[in-house]
Amino acid sequence: MKLKRLLSGIKPTGELHIGHYIGAIKRFIEMQKDYESFVFVADLHSLTVNPNPKEIRENTRKIVELYIACGLDPKHTILFNQSENIYHTALSWALTCHSYMGELSRMTQYKDKSDGQKNESINCGLFNYPVLMAADILIYDTDVVPVGDDQKQHVELTRTLAERFNNRYGKTFKVPKPVIAKKGARIMDLQTPTKKMSKSDENKKGVINLLEDLEVARKKIMSAVTDSESIIKYDEKNKPGISNLMTIYACLTNKEIKEIEEDFKDSSYKDFKEKVADEVVILLKDIQKKYNEIKTDYIDNILNEGLIKVKEISKNKVLEVYKKLGLGRY
Ligand code: AMP
Ligand code: TRP
Repeated sequence: MKLKRLLSGIKPTGELHIGHYIGAIKRFIEMQKDYESFVFVADLHSLTVNPNPKEIRENTRKIVELYIACGLDPKHTILFNQSENIYHTALSWALTCHSYMGELSRMTQYKDKSDGQKNESINCGLFNYPVLMAADILIYDTDVVPVGDDQKQHVELTRTLAERFNNRYGKTFKVPKPVIAKKGARIMDLQTPTKKMSKSDENKKGVINLLEDLEVARKKIMSAVTDSESIIKYDEKNKPGISNLMTIYACLTNKEIKEIEEDFKDSSYKDFKEKVADEVVILLKDIQKKYNEIKTDYIDNILNEGLIKVKEISKNKVLEVYKKLGLGRY
């Protein structure tokens, strides 16, 4: 039986944190055996913030190393760098010409990132960002896209663009589905638990990176902001801090929230935080051990192999699209 296709990616801006692990990478790992998986580094997407070239190059490699250290297995998952497969941008242009200003300007991420800037100086990449993301997805006839909840809207736009193109030119693209975890799709900042844990955050006390020093990580959990009620109960609205820690614990131990409430009904916040910190430290220790053993050649071989496979698939899709659009001499 032909496996369904999974695809997802992460931008190489900033350090990967436990939110990335829980909301995205852990899902890729759990799903990789049941899908034909494609996981990449979205370096073209990171250009939207005009980052330092040296930083991008280093971070791109680091993300691939972390993918592997976390448990992505090149036997099951094709790994590659987005910019090395030039066909993504080729499809992106065709899709741009079928996207509307209105729908792109309604994207929450665009509204957040362009907030406060004058139209004059918002770079067009930020606006077009979801179209490139749609190209990443549609070029491989992807069935499922596991992402954290901030990316759901972009996958929904991808569905709209696929349907629009199919209606105009005949069936060309598969219409993909976002896969958002029931828990862990939005890990919150430990110091401000009403906002998403984010790599661009200046308050580093609220974010635990995957390569964080283990003792520092423990301290960050122990000093996570909670309420004064001292009851371990899941209530996102009134008790966002403890609910976030419960989500982290639930995801790392594969336990249900109800079970955790029951197990810790007589515990203090301090005791519970210690247990959460233990789990986080076990996770980071394991990832860091594998990360430190990875060799440069190994990564290059995997990326080279991945690139050959993805280029072949995506070239065919771009030719199909161009032919339907009347471009070139196909
Ligand atoms: P990005 O850093 O924006 O490239 O995110 C890569 C993936 O990680 C996307 O699927 C995001 O939705 C997911 N992600 C990022 N931050 C978090 C978070 N705090 N909680 C859960 N998922 C997240
Ligand atoms: N935009 C995604 C993010 O910021 C990264 C990304 C780019 C992506 N292309 C993708 C995720 C395709 C899933 C599928 O997290």
